Amino acid sequence: MYQVLARKRRPQTFESLIGQQHIARTLRNAIEADRLAHAYIFSGLRGTGKTSVARILAKCLNCEKGPTPDPCNECTPCTEITQGRSIDVLEMDAASRTGVGDIRELQEVVSYAPARDRFKVLIIDEVHMLSKSAFNALLKTLEEPPPRVVFILATTEIQKVLPTILSRCQVFEFRRVTPRELTLHLRTICDSEGITITDEALDRISRAGEGSVRDSLSVLERILAFCGTEVEDQDVLQVLGAVRAEILVRMVHAIAERNAGEMLATLDAVMDEGRDLLHFWSELLAIFRDLLIARVAGADTELLSRSPDEIRTLDKNTATLSREDLNRVLGLLVELEPGLKSSSQPRFLFESALIRIASLGAVVPIEKFLESLTGGGGELSSPPGEQKKKILTPDEPAPADFRSGLLASIKKRSRPMITALIGHASAVELQDDQAIIRFPAGAESFKSQAERDETMSLLQSCAGEAAGRHLVLRVEMDTATEVRAGSGRSAATGPGNQGPRRPAGDRRQLMEMAGSDPAVKHLLREFGAQIVDIRPLDPETGTEETS
Ligand SMILES: Nc1ncnc2c1ncn2[C@@H]1O[C@H](COP(=O)(O)OP(=O)(O)O)[C@@H](O)[C@H]1O
Ligand SMILES: [Mg+2]
Ligand SMILES: [Zn+2]
Repeated sequence: MYQVLARKRRPQTFESLIGQQHIARTLRNAIEADRLAHAYIFSGLRGTGKTSVARILAKCLNCEKGPTPDPCNECTPCTEITQGRSIDVLEMDAASRTGVGDIRELQEVVSYAPARDRFKVLIIDEVHMLSKSAFNALLKTLEEPPPRVVFILATTEIQKVLPTILSRCQVFEFRRVTPRELTLHLRTICDSEGITITDEALDRISRAGEGSVRDSLSVLERILAFCGTEVEDQDVLQVLGAVRAEILVRMVHAIAERNAGEMLATLDAVMDEGRDLLHFWSELLAIFRDLLIARVAGADTELLSRSPDEIRTLDKNTATLSREDLNRVLGLLVELEPGLKSSSQPRFLFESALIRIASLGAVVPIEKFLESLTGGGGELSSPPGEQKKKILTPDEPAPADFRSGLLASIKKRSRPMITALIGHASAVELQDDQAIIRFPAGAESFKSQAERDETMSLLQSCAGEAAGRHLVLRVEMDTATEVRAGSGRSAATGPGNQGPRRPAGDRRQLMEMAGSDPAVKHLLREFGAQIVDIRPLDPETGTEETS
């Protein structure tokens, strides 16, 4: 029977693990000294050995010749564990079983003594996905661990595991495996499978795995499926290019559909696969740059970094985005760069930019909007009620209960300083998937306090708790006096940055002219608005001129 490489090559002993020697050593010592913990957390990137080590540990405990750090891998308990069908070693995937009912079932299982072997071992994968109530049930069990039961909780996102759980477990951090270690490992496998491949090619495959053994094995597998056992460097390049492109194309589609959920899920996949965020960002930026240039100069222009065919396909898939939309997406992506490079939470920034990109959908160039008011036939992509919200509104106050919900959640964790900090916020708002905390102008120091990593993640989870769903946190300075164009580029469109200066008289005249235009009059009356500033459009792109 054919078995995928990653499964076939699952390490069955501590010795055959690569990259996790620190964990192997600690566990061996604990077994030899008979000092095992009741509960372990295995944290780390996917494909670095968490499940493999959990099974090895289970065998160490239950091997007929054990407990031993070197299980025989031949007795009944050992072989059953390898095949995942031991009655005393249970694996549960929290991602698909998050209900409290599932945990009750688990508690029941735990309450019986091991059926045959020395220990009952419960391996819970992706434990951070458990619902809150399931977490609490698990916590109760961990507080009074039943005898002869060992819990092994695996997670790729340890920051989502409650501290109360963490404090009751021994935590092991699985490291990313270095390209060097991976290349050596792949070389051993290729040699034993009779595959010819150069060192350079193996090196490329290791790098593509970005620290995950499983991912580099899957890449190798794809290459073998593509060209058999004689691998040419050329084939490797081709397959790797396709693998990289897939996730980018997924993101481009999500953006074209303005599907915020899918954008966040794609970013999550990028992170999950352990990809470098900055690299992903620069590739995404390059695609949007090419799309925009192709719209302006045609798909055949030599200014592009990809083939005319490739561009035409991409362009077809992004037909829902106007030239102006593309320009705005590009602008928001460009703005991300300094933050991505300097922040220790680049993911938050990326998520926030994606949500802004998703909300671009409702923005219509003002002249089109005016046309529609005067019956000029311009098309609106959303009903006027929606426009009213996007164009010319001062910030609306947040519903009072979200702030108090957030405060309650912070207080629960006894964090008086952070409670006080939120007391200084001028607004706490809930918008779609975002919690936005604003501080009054001049209070930059509060903003930077809130932006500390630890504070940021605490606030994000408290906000999520208050709202009852996952939220992305944004901390901003107050822009209450600004006329928002809905593009989210508050800094660039704020009153402090009005583009190229024009003589004041000139400006006043323009404002008067605009004010006497019947369409504008209609607009001002309709929305009770007033003209704050006037800026010319760039004739090339149809967007505001930038300074
Ligand atoms: N540290 C490692 N050493 C050797 N192979 C590994 C290692 N980590 C992962 N693998 C390979 O990847 C596959 C999946 O690993 P697994 O232990 O399930 O990862 P995780 O549970 O961390 O996602 C294994 O079957 C094995 O082929
Ligand atoms: Mg696993
Ligand atoms: Zn055995």
